[in-house]
Amino acid sequence: MSQLEEQHVESLSSGPQKLQLKHFVWSEDEWPAIKHNDFTKEYDIPVISLSEILQKPEDDEVYKNVCQIMVAAAHKWGFFKLVDHGVASEIVDDIKICLNDFFNLSMEKKMNGSRNGSLPLGYSASNLDYERNLPWAEILQLLQSPQQVVEFWKRVYGDDHHQALSNAMIKYMKAQEELGRIILKMLAHGLGLASDFFTRNLTEKEAVMIRVNRYPPCPLPEKCLGLGSHTDPHTLTILLQDETGGLQVLKDNDQWFGIRPVPTSFIVNIGDTLEAWTNGRLKSVVHRAVLNKESHRLSIAYFISPASTTEIESPPELVDSEPNPRKYASFTWGEFRKELLMQKRVVGKTALDRY
Ligand code: SIN
Ligand code: FE2
Repeated sequence: MSQLEEQHVESLSSGPQKLQLKHFVWSEDEWPAIKHNDFTKEYDIPVISLSEILQKPEDDEVYKNVCQIMVAAAHKWGFFKLVDHGVASEIVDDIKICLNDFFNLSMEKKMNGSRNGSLPLGYSASNLDYERNLPWAEILQLLQSPQQVVEFWKRVYGDDHHQALSNAMIKYMKAQEELGRIILKMLAHGLGLASDFFTRNLTEKEAVMIRVNRYPPCPLPEKCLGLGSHTDPHTLTILLQDETGGLQVLKDNDQWFGIRPVPTSFIVNIGDTLEAWTNGRLKSVVHRAVLNKESHRLSIAYFISPASTTEIESPPELVDSEPNPRKYASFTWGEFRKELLMQKRVVGKTALDRY
């Protein structure tokens, strides 16, 4: 391995073990056949603009039309890109700058923010605790709690220097929360449900988590993965990715394709919980993050879940004996989350099969 390659492996070792490149090689059936910047498939996920509808009332025809388009995209692809979403560009630029500055710190400094509780919150780089193959990624996970965010950045930067970082992250989370509500209302409306159907229980702080992935350049991108194939367990994910490329989605269970980055857009995808809640009308689709040799890649996922006691049960409007019989028994998000944590299911395939 070259010195640079050794440095990257080193930069991913936050555990006590000495990692080597071979630890990051995945089993052959998971090797990505298409590169991070291969967007040559004739299709990509739909792009939806909110520019015309952010100020419109729910009974407006244009609003209704965009809700239908969103539901159709979430049904067919499980993913769409959102542009003209109303989130100020300074909020997005600030969080990217802050997070890149953080990941560029020395491992020693970053480890001041390392995971220190029973929940997987805080900073971590790969260590051999993972039950599956090691992801080639550094990860920062935090709940949407201003108090926890401040506490985290103080641990990393100290009492006097944390403000810029804390503020940038709190503002970003707040903007994503508002956008998440808008999207969930539009999806409910487009499905013919009361527009607050998915959002009425979104009050609990722990219902929302942010996960930042930073993937260093990888000497063996054809055999390693930043994040293995998985579905997101939550309700909805709003993802910000930089312009490197690397997010790939599985179409019809057998064809991977790359999502072309669009500047200033967010990628929205449906989680397992929303698939179950909508009786399979909206799809939680398998995706992964692939790597490249040249550059770092940053992605920020904002995961929205209902409060833990929320009963996830498809409403009668989405269930009929034919052709849409009930597909999932009801469960609470709290039960589902507990099961995921118990399985140490850091990444994994959908757990919905059990319901
Ligand atoms: C994710 O699935 O959480 C992130 C994937 C990516 O980095 O694009
Ligand atoms: Fe994901």
